[in-house]
Amino acid sequence: MDYLSELNPEQKEAVLHKDGPLLIIAGAGTGKTKTLTSRIFHLIKKGVAPENILAITFTNKAAKEMRERVHTMLKNDPVFKLSSSGFGLPFMSTFHSLGVHILKESGKHLNIPRHFTILDKDGSLSVIKAVVKAQGLDPKQFPPERMQWTISRQKADLVTAQDYADKAGNQYFPQILASIWLAYEKELVKQKALDFDDLILKPVLLLKKHANIRSYYQNKWRYIHID
Ligand SMILES: Nc1ncnc2c1ncn2[C@@H]1O[C@H](COP(=O)(O)OP(=O)(O)OP(=O)(O)O)[C@@H](O)[C@H]1O
Ligand SMILES: [Mg+2]
Repeated sequence: MDYLSELNPEQKEAVLHKDGPLLIIAGAGTGKTKTLTSRIFHLIKKGVAPENILAITFTNKAAKEMRERVHTMLKNDPVFKLSSSGFGLPFMSTFHSLGVHILKESGKHLNIPRHFTILDKDGSLSVIKAVVKAQGLDPKQFPPERMQWTISRQKADLVTAQDYADKAGNQYFPQILASIWLAYEKELVKQKALDFDDLILKPVLLLKKHANIRSYYQNKWRYIHID
């Protein structure tokens, strides 16, 4: 029970919390990640299967840190060290990697090919530039960077190109943006590509639309951690 004695009373309380939501509010460097990784370790020690545990965070660096900390705890544990080779770690990644994972596994229900490529910000900007040009629009009047920003903001609010086009009516700017955006999405399909925003948007749409897939992941990941 060594890992529990390293914690202060509040951290220990959070680690021992088992079912239902728990929110930790604490300042920078006060031991939030330590608490979270200790809880993951604690759950595994108590017999929860690692594949039932999910941990997500925003940056690659933070995800790596979580993985390493949990791995070290498991490796140094007398019970788990023996089986360290075959012992699965929980799924610990960034939000975007989680999106990629879900889309690779279940994206076919949204007609997403299993082997898609991911366009970074520059890659997606190139496509938008090409679309603006192909539509004979003046890039000074419709700056691709601004089009990209607006599309990205909309996608973050779970708005699709079709939703946007349906609402654009006959307003000048929204109508043009809708035609750029629709052409952009068409080009992504052609290239079997997704942009960064799709890695969040598509899994959300998938889970909203398909109750069976939703319950599959709800059953799979019974303990979810967000750092
Ligand atoms: N109860 C504790 N006793 C001793 N050291 C601790 C304790 N809790 C955390 N630490 C140490 O303090 C440091 C910061 O902890 P941690 O990285 O978990 O904090 P954090 O709140 O996640 O920080 P950040 O805000 O940077 O993400 C680490 O080196 C950790 O091992
Ligand atoms: Mg942290």
